[in-house]
Amino acid sequence: MLSLLLILGCEPPSPSTATAPAAATAPAAATAPADNARASAGHEAGLPEALRPEAFTELTAEEQRYIEGNWKLLSTQRDVRLRPAETLARMALKPGMSVVDLGAGTGYFAFRFSELVGPEGHVYATDIASGALKYMAAIIAREASGGRDYRNISLVENPLDGTGVAAGSADVVFVCSIHIFSHLDMLYLSEEELTSGDPVALMAAGRAGMIQSIFETLKPGGRFVYMEGRPGSHAGLDLDLDAVSTLLAGFGFTEAARHDHLKKMDMLVMEKPL
Ligand SMILES: C[S@@+](CC[C@H](N)C(=O)[O-])C[C@H]1O[C@@H](n2cnc3c(N)ncnc32)[C@H](O)[C@@H]1O
Repeated sequence: MLSLLLILGCEPPSPSTATAPAAATAPAAATAPADNARASAGHEAGLPEALRPEAFTELTAEEQRYIEGNWKLLSTQRDVRLRPAETLARMALKPGMSVVDLGAGTGYFAFRFSELVGPEGHVYATDIASGALKYMAAIIAREASGGRDYRNISLVENPLDGTGVAAGSADVVFVCSIHIFSHLDMLYLSEEELTSGDPVALMAAGRAGMIQSIFETLKPGGRFVYMEGRPGSHAGLDLDLDAVSTLLAGFGFTEAARHDHLKKMDMLVMEKPL
């Protein structure tokens, strides 16, 4: 599994580092690493340039590891697989909306959401890894010094089983590849739990707190947009969309749409009733 995560450029943070939800932090508090440490690849209108790991000082060893393993996620090279224009069109985000990017990583989607919802809207970019939050804070600070305004993004350290965002505050909660719906070992179960029982039941139990929290975070009529690798697209236990949809229905969601425009990923849109 570890090798898969490294290929994906996404290292699982150790469960011991998960902390209680932090209050949304003001991006302005971040310090901008040196300009010469910018990565040139991957820049386009709509996606800020990545920062290389060398740009960061004063990180814990774990944060350093996180950034080394994940900084390349902020790259237009992912556009081939994620086709952001088509994917975002299917999310139907509008100026003024409030969006939670749960497990935002280095911000590939969060920065795009920020532009789409505009100054009247808000983006909560959350992650359980403090390295992810420090990475996005540094990008926000660097872009502010260049006149690009990401002040509508709040960075939130969420607990493993909750969004860390206040109830009733989001029009959309978005998840892409945080594996809580597809990989047992991302649920941080014990070895004993992992090797016993029905994997789907185990996953349902491990995800329950998070799904409940996503439901509560949404406004009535709000949408949970779920994107994950299609079964068979990569190693690990994949769950098909029917199973995910049924599971979410048990928490009160109704299915609004499915999109199969991507070759290796599924997109499921679930709605919280009005
Ligand atoms: C493959 S990366 C994807 C990042 C981002 N969603 C993207 O598509 O660019 C997975 C991210 O999910 C985070 N993560 C894993 N479990 C999480 C959880 N329960 N809550 C929030 N974030 C989580 C990891 O720390 C990591 O940053």
